Amino acid sequence: MSPSLQALGYLAAAVLFILGLKRLNSPATARAGNRLSSIGMLLAIAITLVDRAVISYTVIAAGLVVGGALGLWMARSVKMTSMPQMVALLNGFGGAASLLVGGAELLRSHRLGQTMAVDAGVTVQLAVLIGAVTLTGSLVAFAKLQELMSGRPITFGGQKLVSGLIFLGIVGLAVYQVITPVPLLWTFYTVVGLSMVLGVMLVIPIGGADMPVVISLLNSYSGIAASMTGFVIGNTGLIISGALVGSSGIILSQIMCKAMNRSLANVLFGAFGATSGAAGGARSAEGLTVRTISVEDAAMQLAYARLVIVVPGYGLAVAQAQQQVRELAELIEKRGGDVRYAIHPVAGRMPGHMNVLLAEANVPYDKLYDMDDINPEFERADVALVIGANDVVNPAARTDPSSPIYGMPILNADHAKSVIVMKRGMSAGFAGIENDLFYYPQTSMLFGDAKQSLSGLISEVKQV
Ligand code: TAP
Repeated sequence: MSPSLQALGYLAAAVLFILGLKRLNSPATARAGNRLSSIGMLLAIAITLVDRAVISYTVIAAGLVVGGALGLWMARSVKMTSMPQMVALLNGFGGAASLLVGGAELLRSHRLGQTMAVDAGVTVQLAVLIGAVTLTGSLVAFAKLQELMSGRPITFGGQKLVSGLIFLGIVGLAVYQVITPVPLLWTFYTVVGLSMVLGVMLVIPIGGADMPVVISLLNSYSGIAASMTGFVIGNTGLIISGALVGSSGIILSQIMCKAMNRSLANVLFGAFGATSGAAGGARSAEGLTVRTISVEDAAMQLAYARLVIVVPGYGLAVAQAQQQVRELAELIEKRGGDVRYAIHPVAGRMPGHMNVLLAEANVPYDKLYDMDDINPEFERADVALVIGANDVVNPAARTDPSSPIYGMPILNADHAKSVIVMKRGMSAGFAGIENDLFYYPQTSMLFGDAKQSLSGLISEVKQV
């Protein structure tokens, strides 16, 4: 294939990636966007495969079959709540691929006794460093989320100093490698080893619940590493797609931090969750009690409500009660009520968690409202039905400067005429803090697993 035809093909693939990304903006067009990007990727792979530099089609075919089968099995068997750890693993593999390609290029120069040009040397070092950090960092993130190790932040005195020294060591060795004409083996393996240790050091002090931000950041790293690898092997498709992954990962990390009103530095170095306390106790000591509601009474309120705003949270994902939510909403709508879903940007444990969950149950997209659009509507709502959500409706974020979530934008569920909170007990959410909303006069608690409570509500509303 002529180089200009190849460049044109990669350009077409890049355009498809960008159009696909654009369509991921809305749940209604996300599937089409995903398809468009997949076609772009197919095109990029096809162009790479017809390139004469590719030597063995047998090995490539074997890789495709094994990798494809594994990917298919993972995608089909993974539970929605386990998606973050799967993404963590995939990021890790991306980092490993960059490490291997960058490393192979360096080892080839070493074996042939060839001098590596400075630009190639620098990009190889970056691909190796970022690839190795992404690999081990992602494996630690996976282990934390899969509960193979404690999800709590692991900290020790002088941790940042040790990480800083390791980083300086890597930079020193990498510079030495670049200015040495023929690459040296010992420097290469030391840089790989130290980078792997750095990946572990960077992720262990971060709490399990902050992992989605870290995973998105590692995703960005894997993109940057891939982009560097693109420079190493002179592949424009890889440079562009890596840059897109790198930048979208950074943007997503920032969106998540903003929605939690925390800085990226606070997520990475704040060891959030190291001392999270249990909720409930302090309040009952003050003599405040919550008001409980029976399934029958809650069903009565919902059946006669004109506007019900559902606030889904992490507990809905745990209970896997999305089908029941849709069923209940349909019953209310049949009776003439209006049901809307209020989506907080960090409800759940991963970006878009609630959108994906509700889409799974075929909840129409136009019923899903972003925080800014739905917040003014709460005042009109007869019932705010809070299902397994906690932090995202905690008024302390507005009123209590000492609260760890102070400043985080929240859903105004407390502005509704009546609030029904569905959860199993008085446990705290991710932030580990008390929620005053549960003690408000207009709030009633419907205790129990969300799926069971919703099933109860469905049969009661049917009988009203
Ligand atoms: P949370 O504040 O974590 O609260 C979830 C609540 O669900 C818990 O209080 C729990 O109470 C309840 N629950 C658990 N299992 C349940 C079940 N089977 N049935 C009914 N209720 C159940 O959730 P949220 O309001 O969605 O907030 C998300 C939090 O995660 C935020 O603090 C956010 O900053 C953080 N976070 C999110 C992300 C992303 S990207 N989404 C990333 C990092 C951090 P019980 O145990 O009493 O039932």
